[in-house]
This record gives sequence, structure tokens and C-alpha cells, in this order.
Amino acid sequence: MIGKLNHVAIVVPDLTAAAALYRDTLGARVSAPLPLPAHGVTTVFVELPNTKIELLHPLGEASPIRRFLDTNPSGGIHHLCYEVQDIRAARDRLRAAGARVLGDGEPKTGAHGKPVLFLHPKDFCGTLLELEQA
Ligand code: CO
Repeated sequence: MIGKLNHVAIVVPDLTAAAALYRDTLGARVSAPLPLPAHGVTTVFVELPNTKIELLHPLGEASPIRRFLDTNPSGGIHHLCYEVQDIRAARDRLRAAGARVLGDGEPKTGAHGKPVLFLHPKDFCGTLLELEQA
């Protein structure tokens, strides 16, 4: 059911420093910072040949990643995003298997303008999963 690894998201305490690290030290192609107020994050996309890395930094006091950064002050891997063909069909199949879908279970528009859902980390090897309709 799951397809490509769309991205790995890393929460960082300093977006400028993290972008410079990926661009200058690791030699990757890095986007300009993109504020996404609806998601409470500013993101920098790192384009790799086979997937993306999303560097995330909290935007606003109500940011959903603020607490993650409080607990992990030097940053850390926040979630993995897998592509699926049909996000509602994927949700229904996972729910039937006992997995918990976060929020109200309705897909929201994600950072790439496509429908996304998040799955509870306790049901997936301690890893927060995002599903994105490809
Ligand atoms: Co993501």
C-alpha cells in the first residue's frame, strides 16, 4: 500500500544554520525558507535524488512542533512521510487494522498542497508517520 518515501522531517532549533549545513557542508540543493502559518511551521526543503528532507522550525506560539523542540533542544527526526495512491482508502484500511489516525481523521492539505494524514507513533514502531496522497 505505501509507496515512495516522500520525505523525512527534521525539527531544527536554527533553520538558517541547518539550511547552511545541508547546502554547504553536505552539498545538497536547499530551498529558501517557506513559512506555512496554517501548519505552524517554517520549512526548508532539501532535494535529494530519491527523496526530500524537510527542515522544520516552529512558527508562532501554538506551533505543533514547539513541544518537540522543548524536549529535543538540539533537534531531531520528527516524522517520515510515505506516499499512498488513495489516502481515504489507506486510512480506512489502517483503522480497520486498529491503527490510530491523529486529529479528526479527515485529510488536510499538507506542505506540498496534497492531502495528508498523520498516524500515531505508538502504532508504528515509535515513529510518527505522515501519509501523503501522491
Ligand atoms: Co511532513
